Amino acid sequence: MEYRTAGEGETEALGERLGKTLSPGAVVAFTGDLGAGKTAFTRGLARGLGIPGRVTSPTFTIVNEYEGGRLPLFHFDMYRLGGSDELFDIGWEDYLRRGGVCAVEWSETVSDALEGCIRVDIRRGEGENDRIITICEGDGT
Ligand SMILES: Nc1ncnc2c1ncn2[C@@H]1O[C@H](COP(=O)(O)OP(=O)(O)OP(=O)(O)O)[C@@H](O)[C@H]1O
Ligand SMILES: [Mg+2]
Repeated sequence: MEYRTAGEGETEALGERLGKTLSPGAVVAFTGDLGAGKTAFTRGLARGLGIPGRVTSPTFTIVNEYEGGRLPLFHFDMYRLGGSDELFDIGWEDYLRRGGVCAVEWSETVSDALEGCIRVDIRRGEGENDRIITICEGDGT
């Protein structure tokens, strides 16, 4: 499904809607440039999961963990990862087993390791604040 948003708040609201539908073990894999809105969308996911508090970019930590919602949220930023081999080093499989939601920024870096996930691609539209967001569920719909 393709959506268009005209500001950060609308992207967050779209993330919130998706967050309400997610099941334990869901992986949301983002693609899209710097400043596309991946963290903004993830902030919405957190809200949809009922997680209190502030979601910040995990750029320097690779993963941030948020508890206190319907499901835990593990927010990854793979920008600095060398490739999917390094996923094992950060304990990716343990995160998958914990029955939370994994939101993965810069999933391009590890795309060969992410099968059956929900793909969220965010690109810029015509105006400064326009974004075109494509959400593709694991089964290809
Ligand atoms: N429609 C929109 N949706 C989301 N963000 C928007 C939109 N319009 C403008 N913005 C701005 O774009 C920026 C998006 O930042 P954000 O940190 O979410 O991007 P990102 O994709 O996570 O980038 P990075 O790759 O650096 O982590 C914010 O400054 C936000 O205010
Ligand atoms: Mg980000």
